[in-house]
Amino acid sequence: MYAVQEKNMAIVKALLAAGADVTLKDLKGGAAIEICLLSAGRKSNVQIIKALLEAGSDPNAENHSKATPLMLAAGTGQLDVINLLLDAGVDINHEDNKGKTALHICCEHTRMTRAGRLLLSRGADINHKDHSVVTGSSEGIGKAYARELAKRGVNIVLISRGENRLYKTAEDIKKDFKVQTCTIALDFNSGKDVYSVIWEKIKDKEVGILVNNVGVMYDYPQYFLDVPEERLWQLINVNVAAATMMTYMIMPQMVERKKGAVVMVSSGACSQITPQMTVYAATKSFLDYFARALDFEYRSKGIIVQSLMPFYVATKMTRFSHTLSNPGLLIPSAERYAESAVATLGYTSRTSGYWPHTIQAWFTNWIPEWLWMRGATTLNNALRRQAEQRKAPQSLIKRDSSEFDVSKFS
Ligand SMILES: NC(=O)c1ccc[n+]([C@@H]2O[C@H](COP(=O)([O-])OP(=O)(O)OC[C@H]3O[C@@H](n4cnc5c(N)ncnc54)[C@H](OP(=O)(O)O)[C@@H]3O)[C@@H](O)[C@H]2O)c1
Repeated sequence: MYAVQEKNMAIVKALLAAGADVTLKDLKGGAAIEICLLSAGRKSNVQIIKALLEAGSDPNAENHSKATPLMLAAGTGQLDVINLLLDAGVDINHEDNKGKTALHICCEHTRMTRAGRLLLSRGADINHKDHSVVTGSSEGIGKAYARELAKRGVNIVLISRGENRLYKTAEDIKKDFKVQTCTIALDFNSGKDVYSVIWEKIKDKEVGILVNNVGVMYDYPQYFLDVPEERLWQLINVNVAAATMMTYMIMPQMVERKKGAVVMVSSGACSQITPQMTVYAATKSFLDYFARALDFEYRSKGIIVQSLMPFYVATKMTRFSHTLSNPGLLIPSAERYAESAVATLGYTSRTSGYWPHTIQAWFTNWIPEWLWMRGATTLNNALRRQAEQRKAPQSLIKRDSSEFDVSKFS
């Protein structure tokens, strides 16, 4: 690093030949390329940075402010270095912790117009700003929906519990669609503090689309008193509270900009009264109602709110049944479902999101409630039997309502 700072090419070369670790960073998180760009004398910068890149330096290495070498080169107008870094495959639309790209930084420095023009000619996105936040996005419908949005060039903020899965999903999206991703690993079932954690991460980003997808179901269709108490709290905290508070937190900036979309992932299960899914379907009814009322309240302010009501989709959530785990026309894969659902955004405010499900919805709404209840009970009994056959014997011990500890609430 000292050799780089002093721009002493001979020593840099000797150290690299001796196997110096080019991934090391200083206390501010700056790697050797950043030190080179920020130290006096620019003449040998291209030569030194080229040598560092050849020795394995990461051209996308971020410092503590999440700024990359490209941003520093853009901010200081070093055209040759910009070209060199872009040739090395840097992410031209990468954002720092304030949501700024290299192009934004050029625009802030009025004398950097040549660098700005260069970035534009090399593909910098002039409209690069909007993000979409998708909750419950490490797998299933949320992940597939996030990928569909990224396919359209939108940056994605992904929120789920499992850090590794989330990180992998984000990396795949970044690689496949060349957009920015940001991951927030947390459990929506762990109280209201999670919202300040989310806010800290997204407060500087303009969120154009919020997808309230996160949701939990019973392990399989069950009678109300057989559902563990912990799952009931999850249903309330994850299905109801997360969508409400995420919308409350993110919608003000949409209203300020007079544009934005909020998607509430409800469920076809609430189209009619569905026994053995009682609390789950009730939480989904909440979301459907919430979406419809909110759409009416804020449509005139430029915000669209969609209630998305899928029927069965083959995901982890339906793994309790082998019938529901095999994708087909009526039970699509998450990818097939999301491809269709994303295309409805902006066209309809209440939809099943997938045409075979629209036929199911029409049928569900058309048949009398008593007949639906009988049909749903028969189906859910069969699904419960399937799930119970799959489960270990100890988990089949039925809960007794006397297990419910009322003293906890006194
Ligand atoms: N699949 C269906 O048949 C179906 C039908 C109608 C409606 N829906 C609705 O569609 C939405 C997505 O369902 P899905 O089938 O894709 O579910 P899924 O495959 O189970 O995926 C759920 C996602 O949410 C995350 N998640 C779960 N609990 C969380 C928590 N407490 N905090 C943070 N993240 C959490 C999971 O990741 P981690 O486990 O890593 O946190 C995962 O990324 C849900 O709202 C569901 O109710 C699904």
